[in-house]
Amino acid sequence: MTETFTLVHISDVHLGPLDGFHLRHLNTKRALGYLNWQRGRRHVHSRGVADRIAADALAQAPDHIAVTGDLANLGLPGEYANTLAWLEALGDPRRVSVVPGNHDIYTRRLGGASCLETWAPFMRGNETPTDETGPVRFPYVRRQGPVALIGLNSAVPTPPFVAAGRLGEAQIAALSQTLVRLGETGLIRVVLIHHPPLPGQAPPRRALEDAAALAEVLERCGAELVLHGHNHRQMLAWRRHGVRGIPVLGAASASAAAAHKAEPLARYHVLRMRRESGLAHIDCEIRGLAETEGEIVRLAREDLVMPGR
Ligand SMILES: [Fe+2]
Ligand SMILES: [Fe+2]
Repeated sequence: MTETFTLVHISDVHLGPLDGFHLRHLNTKRALGYLNWQRGRRHVHSRGVADRIAADALAQAPDHIAVTGDLANLGLPGEYANTLAWLEALGDPRRVSVVPGNHDIYTRRLGGASCLETWAPFMRGNETPTDETGPVRFPYVRRQGPVALIGLNSAVPTPPFVAAGRLGEAQIAALSQTLVRLGETGLIRVVLIHHPPLPGQAPPRRALEDAAALAEVLERCGAELVLHGHNHRQMLAWRRHGVRGIPVLGAASASAAAAHKAEPLARYHVLRMRRESGLAHIDCEIRGLAETEGEIVRLAREDLVMPGR
């Protein structure tokens, strides 16, 4: 019997409250971000909803959980500690993988631990003993069962009003080698990144600057699935590697207690994956709130099959 691997994908929980906000952390970007949170975002992103989504996700008996960034809001050390507890409640770090978002690496560091230190157990690779100790390196590779999770860091400190991301040449080159190497193993390659990875998927101030280079690597080297967040919307796009399609799947925020502009209520993905006759089959269930203060239910389900095939 073919092994089915269940991967949960959660993104952009933006956990509050903004614990540990102190005058010594203040700069222009954090001051503006704090006002934005107080005036609007704190009424959208609910810790209670994030906790309910987490409980529903665990009830699906996942083999692994991927969290694609924006766990925090202003990149404060207090937020990292608060968020660490939420991550630990999701499960053993060996079964929960995180990549940082632009709200996690938000501005220049003003003292205190970075999220790359606080969340390190959730971001270390597991291919060699050296991967499992020491500093976090991207791309990381985490193998579990028939799947290899490849984590990228697209978060860079940016000025006020800029939420763009960047991988850089070194990370893209390393990704290219990693995808080719893992492609030879037959593992289902799942790439995790916070920013939407393809050109045109976000306006320039919010976009991945080297999306064109990343898209070229995906098409040349292949991957079975790419998961991202950042836009707080359900998204599905495709790239092609040879005759095979690569689904590029974006999750909405998993903590939205209220719809906000074009952003829906909280939702997340349950991805059931298996290899059959050499091909990866991925069934995607979208679960979340159908109505404000409602139950968490199945909203939709589809096989990820490239259109026209
Ligand atoms: Fe976000
Ligand atoms: Fe983001």
